[in-house]
Amino acid sequence: MVKAAVLGYGTVGSGVVQVIEENSDVIAAHGVDMHVKYILDLRDFPGDKYESLVTHDFEDIIKDDEVKVVCEAMGGVEPAFTFSKRALEAGKSVCTSNKELVAAKGAELMRIAKENNANYLFEASVGGGIPILRTINDALTAERIECVKGILNGTTNYILTKMEREGADFDVVLKEAQDKGYAERNPEADVEGHDACRKMAILVSLISHRRADWEQIRTEGITKVTPVDFKYAHKLGRTIKLIAMCQKTDKGFYAIVSPRMIDKDDPINCAQDVFNAVLVRSDMLDDSLYYGRGAGKLPTASAVVGDAVELAKHVGEHFSAGWSEEAENLVDIDSVEFSYFVRLGGSFADRRDELTASFGEVSEVNAGVEGEFGVITKPVSEGSFRTAYEKLTDTKGYIRIG
Ligand code: HSE
Repeated sequence: MVKAAVLGYGTVGSGVVQVIEENSDVIAAHGVDMHVKYILDLRDFPGDKYESLVTHDFEDIIKDDEVKVVCEAMGGVEPAFTFSKRALEAGKSVCTSNKELVAAKGAELMRIAKENNANYLFEASVGGGIPILRTINDALTAERIECVKGILNGTTNYILTKMEREGADFDVVLKEAQDKGYAERNPEADVEGHDACRKMAILVSLISHRRADWEQIRTEGITKVTPVDFKYAHKLGRTIKLIAMCQKTDKGFYAIVSPRMIDKDDPINCAQDVFNAVLVRSDMLDDSLYYGRGAGKLPTASAVVGDAVELAKHVGEHFSAGWSEEAENLVDIDSVEFSYFVRLGGSFADRRDELTASFGEVSEVNAGVEGEFGVITKPVSEGSFRTAYEKLTDTKGYIRIG
C-alpha cells in the first residue's frame, strides 16, 4: 500500500482526499492501493470525516518513511516550495496544482526530484482537470509542436461569456461572479491575465524543454473589454476571449496572453462559462483540441490524484519529463505581427487618412455605435502598432484579431 500526504486542506486539498478515498477502488483497479495518511493544515477541522488525519507539523510527514507521495495543494510559492523541496530531498515524489510555484521554481524542483530518484508532476497546474500536460508529454512525443492556443482561465471565460450573453459591464459581472463564489475576492490574478500567463509559461517550457520566464510574456487582462466591443465583434462574426498562445517561429517561440477577437467558428469557442479549451497544432497530427473543466474542486483534484497514482507506480524510480533550468529566450513580441481591431471617436470618413498614415490600409467596421467607429488593420508588428496607437487621439481601445 502507498501512503500519501496532502498539504493544504482547502478547496483542492479536500478534493484530493475525497478523490483518493472515494475512488480508491478505481485506483486499485489500476494496480495502486493508495490511502491518505496525513493532511497538513494550520487549522483543525472538527467533525470532518478525515479530521483524525490532520497534522500541523510538516516534520510528521517528512519523518514517515511510509509516505511516498505528497500532494501539494497549498498554492503560492512559500511555504509550498520549501515543503516540496524537502519532500523531494527525502525521496518522496510530489504532485501539485500550484501553477505559481511550477512557473517560478518548476525547473529546480524537477532537478531535485531527479537527483533523489523521485518525481515532480503538475498536471493540475494547467487546464484544471484537462489532461493537457500528460497528452503533450506522453501522447504527442513524436510531434513537433508549433502552436498552443487556449482559453486557460475559467473565471475570465465565465465573465466574458456572461458579458456577451447579457450585454452587461465587466464590473457588474465580476461582482456577480464573486457573490456566487466563482471569482476570488481579490480577482487580480485572473482578470489581469497573470494566472493564464503562468499556465502559458508552463506550456512553453514543456514544449521547448527549457525554462520560459513568465515575466517575459506580454500579458493583458480583460478589465478593459466592454459590451460595445462585443457589438463590433458580432458585426464581424466574431467573439472575444482571453487567449493564451505560443507560436514557434524560425527564431524560437513567442508567447502572449490577451483578449482576442476570434471567429465564432473557431474550435476554441466551444469553451463557454468556466470551461477551458486548448488547441495544439503539431507537424504530423495537425490540430487537436482538449476541452473540459479548467477549475473547480473535483476536476482539479482528479488531475492531482491522476498524478499521484503515476507517482505511486514509480516509487524509487525517476521517470518524469520536464524542462531544464536553462532559459528559453522568447521572441520579442514587439517584432510579431498581428491584425488589430481599433475603436476611435469621430467618423471613418474624417479620420481615414490619419489611420492609413498610422497603420497602412485599414477597413472600417460599422456596428452602428453613436459617435465612434472601428477599423481593422492589416498585419502589423506589435511594436509599430503600439507606437502608432499611442500617438492617436480619441481612442477607445484595441483588440487583437484571431
Ligand atoms: N482561478 C483559476 C481559473 C483556477 O479561474 O481558471 C484554476 O487555475
